[in-house]
Amino acid sequence: MKTHSKVPFLPLGSPMNPPKNSSVFANKVAKVGLCLIAGLFTVYVIGTTASIGPDYSPIPVEQANSNDTITICKEYYNDTRQYIQDRPRSDYEDLPTIYFVTPTYPRREQMPELIRLGHTLMHVPKIHWIVADDVYQCNVHLDSLLMEFGIPFTHISSPMNNIYRHLKNVPRGVANRRAALNWIKSNNKSEGVLYFGDDDNTFHLRLFSEIRHTKVVSMFPVGLIGNYAVSSPVVREGKVIGFLDSWIAGREWAVDMAGFAVNLEYLFRYKNQVTMPYKAGYEEDMFLRSLNLRLEEVEPKASNCTEILVYHTQTKKTKSPDIILPHSITLSSPSKSNIAHLFRFMENSGVSHFTSSKGVKPEVSYKGKKLPVASVY
Ligand SMILES: *[C@@H]1O[C@H](CO)[C@@H](O)[C@H](O)[C@H]1NC(C)=O
Ligand SMILES: *[C@@H]1O[C@H](CO)[C@@H](O)[C@H](O)[C@H]1NC(C)=O
Ligand SMILES: *[C@@H]1O[C@H](CO)[C@@H](O)[C@H](O)[C@H]1NC(C)=O
Ligand SMILES: *[C@@H]1O[C@H](CO)[C@@H](O)[C@H](O)[C@H]1NC(C)=O
Repeated sequence: MKTHSKVPFLPLGSPMNPPKNSSVFANKVAKVGLCLIAGLFTVYVIGTTASIGPDYSPIPVEQANSNDTITICKEYYNDTRQYIQDRPRSDYEDLPTIYFVTPTYPRREQMPELIRLGHTLMHVPKIHWIVADDVYQCNVHLDSLLMEFGIPFTHISSPMNNIYRHLKNVPRGVANRRAALNWIKSNNKSEGVLYFGDDDNTFHLRLFSEIRHTKVVSMFPVGLIGNYAVSSPVVREGKVIGFLDSWIAGREWAVDMAGFAVNLEYLFRYKNQVTMPYKAGYEEDMFLRSLNLRLEEVEPKASNCTEILVYHTQTKKTKSPDIILPHSITLSSPSKSNIAHLFRFMENSGVSHFTSSKGVKPEVSYKGKKLPVASVY
């Protein structure tokens, strides 16, 4: 009934063979096996990768997938909020759940971004936050942070395969979103709505009430994208007829990752073919194509796409500093002041790194006089 023909079906399923080039992966194998058991779908390549776009180095898909690593770090289903937007949580029980997928990666801005986003999501009823981190080892500090919000979550570690880190345009976040999709499929979350929300975006609370009742796929404007500072469907008489986006690049679906939501019942109709490819710039297009979506099925939101309810804000990235610890001191040294504790917190949250060799030398002041940090440790 659908007229798409050349849809590249890249498989999502990934046998859990971690890369061999580091010792930490040995115990990952066991963890991955335990955590994911047989739940994950292993789908083999049906088609081949399409060759749109000049920057794509086609890596054999089977090879790439067989080295994907996914670890479920923590799953938490308790919604411990008593009130949400001034109403008791029980008022919202009948709403469909929004599965909010956030790819993230370690950098000094990671924790502040997630705190800010978490505080937005605390105001959203019936939400399950899937946070997928681009790391090999679960970050336990992320677990404690996520627990503090009181909303249900799944914390996944899903490192991008090293083969993609060398590409000119790194397909950031793809391994994470694929891992989240795998989790949704293997846990049979076939009711509710899927949304991809990056950790640095800004979300109006009204966005959530707009997307929650998505029947197939809903679409809406995203602010601060590209040369027009917006990426939006074009809507006429309540129907989507095209896209306003400054980077068309042959994309049938010229939309941003934050510009659509998908009904999960609909997605499950295509669960054996739905995929997100490792192809920077084409993730949205190829994901939506793998769902056999037709333009006339798209539901425009945000008042027929006349309002912006989500912005692609980006925090300016700065490298974490290396701070030199005095020779007499390590991060685990006992300390009389707050400094060692604070330094450990900074190291753990990725804000700074501590070293004994190259970096900045920390100093403290006492009544305007500079003192070495060792003197107050
Ligand atoms: C995947 O891992 C195997 C070893 O398990 C290795 O031989 C192969 O080169 C890896 N493939 C990629 C694309 O990294
Ligand atoms: C979940 O919440 C209930 C009631 O609020 C509580 O009794 C239970 O211990 C919680 N479970 C976990 C795993 O925190
Ligand atoms: C998956 O979920 C749907 C809807 O909740 C349910 O009808 C179906 O039986 C479930 N399938 C499995 C295999 O659990
Ligand atoms: C969108 O446009 C259609 C057709 O003009 C109209 O019927 C509908 O009420 C509009 N929706 C909103 C939310 O404004």
